Amino acid sequence: MTYRKKLIEVALPLEAINMESAREKSIRHGHPSTLHLWWARRPLAACRAVLWATLVDDPSSWPDKFPTEEAQNRERQRLFDILGRITIETDKKGNTKQVVRGLVSWDDINDPNSKVLEAAQREIARCLAWDRGEEPPTKPDAVRRYIAKYAPPVYDPFAGGGSIPLEAQRLGLEAHASDLNPVAVLINKALIEIPPKFRDLPPVNPVLRGQGIGNRG
Ligand SMILES: C[S@@+](CC[C@H](N)C(=O)[O-])C[C@H]1O[C@@H](n2cnc3c(N)ncnc32)[C@H](O)[C@@H]1O
Repeated sequence: MTYRKKLIEVALPLEAINMESAREKSIRHGHPSTLHLWWARRPLAACRAVLWATLVDDPSSWPDKFPTEEAQNRERQRLFDILGRITIETDKKGNTKQVVRGLVSWDDINDPNSKVLEAAQREIARCLAWDRGEEPPTKPDAVRRYIAKYAPPVYDPFAGGGSIPLEAQRLGLEAHASDLNPVAVLINKALIEIPPKFRDLPPVNPVLRGQGIGNRG
């Protein structure tokens, strides 16, 4: 098996990752930090970035596909754009501000209409497929199945608040977690073990069930 250098070994868009990681501190709604206090909790944006860049090959690993430094830089920039980029956006009042977009963005990853997760998963599947000498899948469902079948599982033995296994699971990887502290174990069960068992199931409350809440269209 050929060893391929991963993106994380060469370069990362650190400014965008750092900016979004810092912003995450002030996010409350829907953030796992509100589930239970855990000290030394790592920012989800950084965990997501690190996991993804550990699975995606650096373009220099594929000299037959990206033969020149220029071609490798161009491809690396394309990967950076998927992972995290800083853009200037104008709000409703006409004020401009710097905004992080891409896989590391909390807003993008939580936007049901955003395609960032699909784009990021396609890159993981592409690297797995190239390595296996197969044609990469392109359709989102096929991509997810391919990742589930061929991507390495992730194990965090010091999982704490569960940031790493949660983000591994989000990317479609098999995630395992453990910790010395039973409180951390409980947090991880609540965060990554129990929710997938009930995902897409209708609510038990008959009133809500009648409103179709919990059913995906
Ligand atoms: C820095 S925290 C992990 C934070 C985690 N990455 C997060 O984002 O929330 C380190 C964790 O290691 C656990 N730990 C320390 N010593 C351990 C040991 N010997 N075996 C298992 N877990 C241990 C602690 O209970 C703590 O939850």
